[in-house]
Amino acid sequence: MFWLLAVLAYLLGSLSFAILLSRLAGGPDPRAAGSGNPGATNMLRVAGKKLAILTLLGDLLKGLVPVLIAALLGLGIQQQAWIGLAAVVGHLYPLYFRFRGGKGVATAAGMLLGLYPPAALLAVCAWLLTFVLTRTSSLAALIATPLTLPLLAWQQPGALLPTTLLTGLIVWRHRRNLSDLFAGRERHF
Ligand code: G3P
Repeated sequence: MFWLLAVLAYLLGSLSFAILLSRLAGGPDPRAAGSGNPGATNMLRVAGKKLAILTLLGDLLKGLVPVLIAALLGLGIQQQAWIGLAAVVGHLYPLYFRFRGGKGVATAAGMLLGLYPPAALLAVCAWLLTFVLTRTSSLAALIATPLTLPLLAWQQPGALLPTTLLTGLIVWRHRRNLSDLFAGRERHF
């Protein structure tokens, strides 16, 4: 059951809403415009508010739904977290798009929402506060994601290993943003 759900979560996570929605709308491919990232932030830059919100919701649901299904089927918190991580890995390395995906922030938020809503709330508040102060989506994600780890270690220690890996993957996928931030050339809104 666990492995079947993990594979299905990966396949669901591989659906890149940024790419699919931009194709449906006949808009620019987010991989070839703006930052080149198929995610909600770049959709806001290159395709407008409506498609960005739909991308955000779709990517978030990809993380949330597999975790909720795992919980409904009686799997424990650690297995739920591995299944959520499989969805995020699908988003980062999508089977249908030559393994070239996004940075995983919205899908991780959905995963956290399913696992332990207070952690998702903390991440959203930290993201919003950083974004309002800096107008920089990548910096907001780089601050918000690791911040959830102490809370999870305290309240949901079973989920700590997969969520630590999740944080590592998200930071890794933001490595270009990090070098742009240090060089002072990161994109702001
Ligand atoms: O969620 C993605 C965000 O953290 C960075 O996106 O397009 O500014 O590289 P982008």
